Amino acid sequence: MELADRVALVTGGARGIGRACVLALARAGCHVVVNYLTSEEAARKVCREVEALGRRAVAVRADVAAEQEVERLVRTATDALGPVDALVNNAGVEVPLPAGGSPGAAWDRVLAVNLKGAYLCARAVAPGMKARGQGVIINISSTAGLTAYPEAPHYAASKAGMINLTRTLALAWAPEVRVVGIAPGWTDTAMAAGLSAEEKTIICESIPLGRFARPEEVGRLAAFLAAEADYMTGHTVVLDGGALLQGGEST
Ligand SMILES: NC(=O)c1ccc[n+]([C@@H]2O[C@H](COP(=O)([O-])OP(=O)(O)OC[C@H]3O[C@@H](n4cnc5c(N)ncnc54)[C@H](OP(=O)(O)O)[C@@H]3O)[C@@H](O)[C@H]2O)c1
Repeated sequence: MELADRVALVTGGARGIGRACVLALARAGCHVVVNYLTSEEAARKVCREVEALGRRAVAVRADVAAEQEVERLVRTATDALGPVDALVNNAGVEVPLPAGGSPGAAWDRVLAVNLKGAYLCARAVAPGMKARGQGVIINISSTAGLTAYPEAPHYAASKAGMINLTRTLALAWAPEVRVVGIAPGWTDTAMAAGLSAEEKTIICESIPLGRFARPEEVGRLAAFLAAEADYMTGHTVVLDGGALLQGGEST
């Protein structure tokens, strides 16, 4: 899909992988809606970076887990920049399960943001894409959705769910809408910032390419999938430095 003057919406676009997707899509020609939940100042800064590239941008606060907020997000995005041609479902959380207490709240929040949120956003933009005859949805899952991740079963289940949601929506909405995924391995963002230096070294030793992904590498792949992968739908590309080749650590 030619991206010049298209409109992209990136959930959780203020920082980390989301910010990198925003900037890569802007470099490829898109005007971008930067969704955020708590990082308002960072979202405005990313918008200024997009504008410096000669594209338009707007920051919109919304919790992707809340249906009415998602509907308002897409309405506001459309009013500001035009109908959404490319959606990146990037917003995600990993809430630790409590050691002794009830897992319910952490389980519900992780599933609500990572999995239900992706579905709500996709469902809000897909009818317009179908009506216009073209659109792409990119789901950012994780290698945790492809291997066992005993440290965070709720996170692993949410990401496995996203991978099958990608297949399912691709089949439901073809041929007008392509739905594709990226499953990053460990990536240098706030989500990985809690690791100790020792843990990081152990993880890097399990990755054939010997390091974490850079957020920009995920962003460039997202722009490629949007712009160049016209015959791809339903599948998820693994971007993990080869970690899964030898059963490496998930994230
Ligand atoms: N880092 C890794 O190692 C890694 C590996 C594989 C997959 N991933 C996935 O990549 C995605 C981005 O993660 P990251 O590493 O960039 O993490 P991050 O730096 O912690 O960023 C998380 C992003 O999600 C947004 N967000 C969280 N809850 C939200 C909600 N309810 N509504 C809207 N936005 C929400 C945050 O927005 P605010 O800041 O505005 O609250 C933030 O922009 C996630 O889906 C994550 O699971 C990450």
